[in-house]
Amino acid sequence: MSNVMEKDIDHVLLSEEELQTRVRELGRQISQDYAGKEPMLVSVLRGSYIFMADLTRAIDCMCLVDFMAVSSYGSGTTSSGQVNIIKDLSDSIEGKDIIVVEDILDSGNTLYYLMQVLQARNPASIRLCTLLDKPSRRAKPIQSDYVGFTVPDAFVVGYGLDYDEKYRNLPYIGVLKPEVYEK
Ligand code: IMP
Ligand code: MG
Repeated sequence: MSNVMEKDIDHVLLSEEELQTRVRELGRQISQDYAGKEPMLVSVLRGSYIFMADLTRAIDCMCLVDFMAVSSYGSGTTSSGQVNIIKDLSDSIEGKDIIVVEDILDSGNTLYYLMQVLQARNPASIRLCTLLDKPSRRAKPIQSDYVGFTVPDAFVVGYGLDYDEKYRNLPYIGVLKPEVYEK
């Protein structure tokens, strides 16, 4: 371990190679499921930006991309039920096949709200793809249609996921040392 972020990482949960392999599998699966269609992938910023970039390049059907940003208020490592749209989509999703791309489904508070907002805009279909799923923490009745990895209840960072907006640029996913967020 050499760089300045790594002293804060307890251990690597998912290596760069494991992530790449699984993301390619998800891309293949989505390509099969949407063959002949033109899905629009909606990336929820900021946590999904790296996953989105890799996932879309692993999809070989015609597809569209769009981005939105939401904030969910809560303390350092948990979200609340209150969600705000900070940046909305650029295009209409009416009549389109939507795949919402998120970094992690944790309590589900953020995505439960967001899926309702998007559903109300009358897409032809809407599915959810999350790189990570932490089912043990679910507070809302929501599940992901495409899951990269199911992870234990630990706070993880890297590959787009942050703590306090940092560590997103780690190429792997690691468990943050609790003392980093307990200070
Ligand atoms: P929710 O609890 O499902 O609403 O999760 C909302 C957001 O919290 C996710 O989109 C992530 O940005 C963030 N989050 C939840 N768990 C983790 C984690 O373990 N590491 C980093 N971010 C997380
Ligand atoms: Mg975050």
